[in-house]
Amino acid sequence: MKEPKTYFIRTYGCQMNELDTEVMRGQLEKRGLKWLENEAEVDLLIFNTCSIRDLAERKVMGKLGLLAKKKNSDQIVGVTGCMANAKKESLFKKMPHVHFVLGTNDLHTLNDTLDTLLATGSKGIGIQKHFTEELDYIGAKRDDKLKAYISIIRGCNKYCTYCIVPYTRGPEVSRAPEDIIQECKILASKGYKEITLLGQNVNSYGKDNASFNCLFHDLLYKLDAIDGIERIRFMTSHPVDITRQLMEAIRDLPSLCEFIHFPVQSGSSRILKKMHRIYTLEQYLEKVALLKEIVPNAALGTDIIVGFPTETHEDFMETYKVLEHIEYSVAFLFAYSERKGTPATRFKDTIPEEVKQERLQMLIQLQDGIYKKQRQALIGSTQEVLVERASTRNPHLLKGRTRCWKNAIFPGDASLIGSLASIYVDDFTHQTLVGRKVEEPLSLIS
Ligand code: SAH
Ligand code: SF4
Ligand code: F3S
Repeated sequence: MKEPKTYFIRTYGCQMNELDTEVMRGQLEKRGLKWLENEAEVDLLIFNTCSIRDLAERKVMGKLGLLAKKKNSDQIVGVTGCMANAKKESLFKKMPHVHFVLGTNDLHTLNDTLDTLLATGSKGIGIQKHFTEELDYIGAKRDDKLKAYISIIRGCNKYCTYCIVPYTRGPEVSRAPEDIIQECKILASKGYKEITLLGQNVNSYGKDNASFNCLFHDLLYKLDAIDGIERIRFMTSHPVDITRQLMEAIRDLPSLCEFIHFPVQSGSSRILKKMHRIYTLEQYLEKVALLKEIVPNAALGTDIIVGFPTETHEDFMETYKVLEHIEYSVAFLFAYSERKGTPATRFKDTIPEEVKQERLQMLIQLQDGIYKKQRQALIGSTQEVLVERASTRNPHLLKGRTRCWKNAIFPGDASLIGSLASIYVDDFTHQTLVGRKVEEPLSLIS
């Protein structure tokens, strides 16, 4: 086996995995490897995987299976990410052509693992349960020059009964505030304008380490003070940990976008209990009402699971009504997928696939109507847009997002890229607001 010269990483799953890929890219480029987007030709091929639903795993297993048939014998193949933690050594048995398996808590050992593999030919495995903060975020290779993901807390202590994440990523570990601030300052000095703070549950930030003396809302005040960072977003939150202080921070901090992911999962308190979400629907709705009182223009996002074991038509209709009532501006809708090793397996996957799909389709249709209505309501308003790039089809059209995450397109000169523009909304297409740049001050509708 010889030192690889080119590499490619195929990324699945959430934003944390995307960031992990950027960190691995930094490590590999430091070693002298070059990115080559060609799975068949590349010397080192890594699958950075996700285990959240069965489909996510099947996609990777299918790819690995195909590769076994056609692979050139010199290619090094690695599996990283949550599926590495979930499947462990069994991946080598099923896929003998895989050379190394590195879980989410072992990515810092990537170059050492490659060294050992090249020196001895022995396969590498790292699947620690606990995360330790040893990743070189400053060296991460980011393609985007305006927006960056920042890891602030890893792991999850919530143990929702359907979810594999606490078993793959392990318990919560917060990153030191000074490290986060330093990274953000470096990014600001390089011209980055927007940061998205990442964690499986960002609102738990700081609770695992009293010596930081810094909870999530405290961190937000520190980051808002950094010159050059115009927008701060965060993903994702557990409703139980969304505090009044956080809501006030959204109201008071200029850079903090008025968008909050507030995942309800189900509208039935009976199902929420079985999911171990630790709130009832009433408590959830009370919190949403408080948010609307403190930040009237806040936009909400959600995740929903339909077809959780024992979900009746009535339970499902409660979920339907919540979607109808709250009118989320982003909704990720999923059919329940049984995950081996999670507590919900004891309830048995009782809802037939066709029923899950029917319920899913009903929510998709409902939500599509809501999206349309929301875009319609924005016509005639002026929105702050971070200008990100020119359209690939027409270089005279610029693209960006509003503070509340809506895509916007408008005519303009490429010199505007990287700046905040006031866009008057004239129209909308399927997923995008269509407008024109104006000089007038921004209205606060978003
Ligand atoms: N930590 C985040 C999200 C983690 S996973 C949070 O709690 O909000 C993203 C979403 O995937 C979850 O919110 C949930 O809606 C969905 N999900 C997780 N496990 C699932 C499963 N077994 N089947 C279907 N959807 C699932
Ligand atoms: Fe999974 Fe629940 Fe943790 Fe989110 S809060 S990662 S859904 S266990
Ligand atoms: Fe998937 Fe792991 Fe993220 S299971 S959604 S990659 S935390």
